[in-house]
Amino acid sequence: MKGIVLAGGTGSRLFPLTKITNKHLLPIFDKPMIFYPIETLVAAGIRDILLVTGGRNSGDFLRLLANGKEFGLKHLNYTYQEGEGGIADALALAEHFADGEKICVILGDNIIEGSIGAAVEEFEEQEHGARILLKEVHDAERFGVADLRGDRIAGIEEKPRNPKSNYAVTGIYMYDGTVFDKVKRLAPSGRGELEITDVNNAYIAEGTMTFSFLDGWWTDAGTFESLLRAANLVAHSRRSRPAGA
Ligand code: G1P
Repeated sequence: MKGIVLAGGTGSRLFPLTKITNKHLLPIFDKPMIFYPIETLVAAGIRDILLVTGGRNSGDFLRLLANGKEFGLKHLNYTYQEGEGGIADALALAEHFADGEKICVILGDNIIEGSIGAAVEEFEEQEHGARILLKEVHDAERFGVADLRGDRIAGIEEKPRNPKSNYAVTGIYMYDGTVFDKVKRLAPSGRGELEITDVNNAYIAEGTMTFSFLDGWWTDAGTFESLLRAANLVAHSRRSRPAGA
């Protein structure tokens, strides 16, 4: 499976921290944010990785990550998102890279304690469709929220005022080769973006969406509160499990 890290956007919720750099280059404890999603993919056995970024600081990613040696990689792929079209618009740029294969997409500000290895293996076995990872949270209205009916997912609502469950859709998505056709059929949302939630709902509508629950803590890092929370979670797990242990 190929991996795609989405690291574009303006990071407007973190202004002025993001006035002179990209959100994903900000520190989370002792590493730049972008290191964590790359490590998540590599730990799941994914070696062929594309980084989608944009904006004025995109060149800094190349300087920071180079060919990915730090992650045990020989090569990293890069592409550039023009404008601020949203997550699904950034994903559309990966069509050429994916070349019809299954992909695992991770948002550049999603940081997890555990592993996605088991879910990736399950998706390898899945004939077609998509798989998402859910996590129980206390502030579901900040996220895409799953409407669960037993072991079935009936739909996803993006940042609902009255969430139908406490299960957030994390920014880790696995798709088959049809994802790019689905993206092409999307219309911009109220916030003027192509929403990843609409891509996921297209899979739900055709009955090919599966899901797993993510073990360990999960956080995004796109607001002041979640950026601080991410740093504290990483620092705490580093103390209880020293690096390299
Ligand atoms: C995005 C998605 C949302 C998802 C979240 C995970 O939200 O739109 O469905 O739950 O990432 O981090 P954003 O933080 O880009 O508004």
